[in-house]
Amino acid sequence: MDNLPLRLGVNIDHVATVRNARGSAYPDPVRAAILAQEAGADGITAHLREDRRHIGDADIDALMDQLTVPLNFEMAATDEMQAIALRHKPHAVCIVPEKREEKTTEGGLEVAREENRLAHFIAPLREAGSRVSIFIAAEKSQIEAAHRIGAAVVELHTGAYCDFHYECDFTQRDAELERLREMAAFAHNLGLEVHAGHGLTFETVQPIAAIPEIVELNIGHFLIGEAIFMGLEASIKKMRLLMDEARA
Ligand code: PXP
Repeated sequence: MDNLPLRLGVNIDHVATVRNARGSAYPDPVRAAILAQEAGADGITAHLREDRRHIGDADIDALMDQLTVPLNFEMAATDEMQAIALRHKPHAVCIVPEKREEKTTEGGLEVAREENRLAHFIAPLREAGSRVSIFIAAEKSQIEAAHRIGAAVVELHTGAYCDFHYECDFTQRDAELERLREMAAFAHNLGLEVHAGHGLTFETVQPIAAIPEIVELNIGHFLIGEAIFMGLEASIKKMRLLMDEARA
């Protein structure tokens, strides 16, 4: 298949995590988003969680006002979040599962189990002009359900692939990678746009970036952590370079 361009969405949630740890006004995630945009990010991703543990409502207001690249607004499928998304009408809305006690988004959304509710939930978002993306495990049943409810995009969860890599369980890592490859092709053939993300690092990004059907990677925690050592601009530029190399 043709070599589709690969976009980098930079998730700035964890700049807000550091800010909120001290209840201060800094570091400012919006400033980080603008810097990321200047460093070559094709989009900015921010997850407004129910408990507002990192990004807050005012951050979303400011991102909508100040960004020139698209905002990918991550949210749980709740009435509160739907109302916020409908007020802002961001370029993209990514629906993720959310549990209060989790450290991060642990699994994909169970679309197959909640198909009816989710179809109704995303309909007004689609009508408002946002591209609806569903964050799911790389499983046929979830992809088919995401397609049936009318999502434009599926984002495949790369967390397990990355975890196996860092646990040095390379057999399981490679099996997970193969599954991501097969499911990216399956989703693409259904007509869905395919994104991927979660846990990606300089070490793990290239095999994912090389999957030809994937057109966007959303990466946050590692880039923000790496910014401590090399600066945010350099960490984004290096990630971009690795992605481009893998794609070429
Ligand atoms: N994509 C989705 C849907 C996410 O929920 C997250 C984490 O907020 C990411 C991508 C980015 O993951 P990470 O911060 O581990 O790079």
